[in-house]
Amino acid sequence: MKNIVILISGGGSNMAAIVKAARRDKWQEKFGARVAAVISNKADAAGLVFAAENGLATEVLDHKAFASRADFDAALSKLIDRYDEPGQPALVALAGFMRILTPGFVGQFAGRLLNIHPSLLPAFAGLHTHQRALDAGCKVTGATVHQVTAELDHGPILAQAVVPVLPGDTAATLAARVLTQEHLIYPQAIADLLRR
Ligand code: GRF
Repeated sequence: MKNIVILISGGGSNMAAIVKAARRDKWQEKFGARVAAVISNKADAAGLVFAAENGLATEVLDHKAFASRADFDAALSKLIDRYDEPGQPALVALAGFMRILTPGFVGQFAGRLLNIHPSLLPAFAGLHTHQRALDAGCKVTGATVHQVTAELDHGPILAQAVVPVLPGDTAATLAARVLTQEHLIYPQAIADLLRR
């Protein structure tokens, strides 16, 4: 069994989309894979409720309880490693996980650490992507699923969705339109990886 561990910090709608796709598309039968656990760095992350209701293991690892980024990442990697199976290290999907990870952590999970970012990378790495796209006068924006490397919001691109910017859009309306596409491409990109 290949376990998928999803890291969240908030609403967890991408996590929920992955969980639903895994069930709907029978990842267990097809790929021998399942979403095993959801880990949040915030105890009040709304996504934890969905995860628990759907029978997933949930864990909270509060980054504020650690003296340094490296200490937090070391504890996080230990927690994730609990979901490794013999010969089958867990696949780790960042889904609205609002922490910058140390190069040491990223190196440890190289090749099995994914992220979704709400822009067409390499444009608009970092925060406030939708406002920045509006300010630049972009006619299209979108979302990107990528392998995580040590540089923030970089790394080989696995999937992208293009979303039009419409007259009258605000950062909020644009974010909502992009999010519907995130929910399609993230599960799809994971399924494509599992199929390999
Ligand atoms: C998504 O737009 C994701 O791309 C970004 O943060 C948002 C998280 O949304 N990194 P959710 O928690 O998956 O609902």
